[in-house]
Amino acid sequence: MATVAFNHVTKKFGETSVLNGLDLEVTDGEFLVLLGPSGCGKTTALRMVAGLESPTSGTVTIGGSVVNDVAPQHRDVAMVFQNYALYPHLSVAKNIEFPLRQRDVSADVRAKKVSEVADMLGLTELLDRKPRQLSGGQRQRVALARAIVREPVCFLMDEPLSNLDATLRARTRSEIVRLQHELGTTTIFVTHDQVEAMTMGDRIAVLNAGDLQQVGTPTELFANPANVFVAGFIGNPGMSLLASEVVNGQLSIGGTPTTFSGLGVSGAVTVGVRIDGVQLGSSGIAAICDGVEVLGAEVHVLGHLGDDQIIVRQAASAPRPKIGEQIFVELTAQPLCFDAVTGLRVGT
Ligand SMILES: Nc1ncnc2c1ncn2[C@@H]1O[C@H](COP(=O)(O)OP(=O)(O)O)[C@@H](O)[C@H]1O
Ligand SMILES: [Mg+2]
Repeated sequence: MATVAFNHVTKKFGETSVLNGLDLEVTDGEFLVLLGPSGCGKTTALRMVAGLESPTSGTVTIGGSVVNDVAPQHRDVAMVFQNYALYPHLSVAKNIEFPLRQRDVSADVRAKKVSEVADMLGLTELLDRKPRQLSGGQRQRVALARAIVREPVCFLMDEPLSNLDATLRARTRSEIVRLQHELGTTTIFVTHDQVEAMTMGDRIAVLNAGDLQQVGTPTELFANPANVFVAGFIGNPGMSLLASEVVNGQLSIGGTPTTFSGLGVSGAVTVGVRIDGVQLGSSGIAAICDGVEVLGAEVHVLGHLGDDQIIVRQAASAPRPKIGEQIFVELTAQPLCFDAVTGLRVGT
């Protein structure tokens, strides 16, 4: 096991900068989720730990040693890819033992380890099958088994659940977390799915366009987003972000004064509200209804005021506004404030 660190790592492909001075330390035994939208540099960051890309500047360390010039096979890390990357012509057992063969591990030790890890992942009955005879979830477990059998100092997982259907994805989430706790192996898990990040990570590092936005526990990111990007990205749904103004200490949204004051800011701000901090009312902030999403016991009313989107929760039994109709939104909880220009968290 080991700590893994990015020390001011920049990666450019030609003129294009994909990671901008990334500083991030993953502690020994930690499950760290690297979260961000498609194209933000997650895979590139992971490939630099694996040794499949090298930083343009800065260093990557594993267990305190700089590995920039260490070949992938000497890094003692195991990567699990989105597409599993199994050998189609090899049986499950042969796929799992492949990394051990490469290291000239003796046949008895190989057999013992394959049997142990197959047992751990419920693959014992499937050892003689070929990958094409397995379901997506089973292939995924074989790919995990192949990573685990190596006993690496670090697991690198690149969106390993994205090819599974929703039910299996939810089940496999907890299975991976359980295994990681059992093994205690430092893990970097890449995903674009904030639900996956929130449910799996000890900590989450949020990345956007090559820039690290915030690192923290799921609870910290949810309750105290550092900027509008994290506020809008974390949570299901993310915070509604509304152009607002604080005049004489009192908050106005869309020109409508609210009862909130004492926010510790003045002038133009962006206000962030969670879905449980707003409700529909007969007066309040005016918005236009854009649609209603029926989720079962509750519905989400989607609306906009100016260029800003807002989401309000309603009981399924309540009368639903129609698209294009005016709605009124009331704040029921103290909102968070962000700088209108930089997007950084400000105020109390
Ligand atoms: N080998 C490469 N050459 C040029 N551009 C690349 C290469 N690999 C990735 N990129 C670009 O770098 C950006 C980040 O890619 P990637 O790390 O794969 O993002 P993510 O995994 O977050 O979706 C993308 O714009 C991608 O097109
Ligand atoms: Mg990727």
